[in-house]
Amino acid sequence: LLARAGVASRREVERMIADKRIAIDGKTVETPATLLESLRGVTVDGKPVAKPEPTRLFAFHKPTGLITAEHDPRGRPTIYDALRNALPKDAPRVMPIGRLDFNTEGLLLLTNDGDWSRQLSQPENQVRKHYRVTLEKPLADDYVTAFAEGMWFEYEGITTRPAALKIRSPFEADVWLCEGRYHQIKRMFHAVGNQVVSLHRESMGAIQLDPALAPGQYRALTATEIASVDQASTSS
Ligand code: URA
Repeated sequence: LLARAGVASRREVERMIADKRIAIDGKTVETPATLLESLRGVTVDGKPVAKPEPTRLFAFHKPTGLITAEHDPRGRPTIYDALRNALPKDAPRVMPIGRLDFNTEGLLLLTNDGDWSRQLSQPENQVRKHYRVTLEKPLADDYVTAFAEGMWFEYEGITTRPAALKIRSPFEADVWLCEGRYHQIKRMFHAVGNQVVSLHRESMGAIQLDPALAPGQYRALTATEIASVDQASTSS
């Protein structure tokens, strides 16, 4: 495998093994008769042989009824169940950037790059997430100030960062958040005496949910979309 990857000729690779220059996951290879299925984790003189995986970023239209986690102790379906059917088998492992609740729908970004994930999810980077919310009772004008001033979350012992709220109709609002506390929007409406009936994420930073993506579908982000998030988060 190493010879085929162009590391050196078969004979030279054998010599490198004898000289203990090759390791797999940090363990020195002792014999050329070592079963190797991929070059992942293989180093020569301590340097990785495989090229690092390219950064991948996907936009997924999360439907309701899926958990944003790898496993659910209650056995409910996860986003990975949906993605397994949609992504090619050899696709790199991707992680969701932030979470959407089981019954929340809309844009969920996925990546294999930890830096991207941090850049988009750390509240300090002020990446605005836009949600469309439907409520059980009519909205009141004073919600706008309550959301903007922030709310005390007893469990975390924090005050939420300023959030923007726009009333669209008696039962519908737009909300923009720069953070993602557990059930944040539901708890904020609960605190003002209302209850969320449905929640849909429209965008994250400069990335809008593509109307061509039906719930359950995903697509790779375009270079332009990636560049726009880069600019938005580095300029804020
Ligand atoms: N706020 C919530 O309450 N739930 C979500 O899924 C996202 C934001």
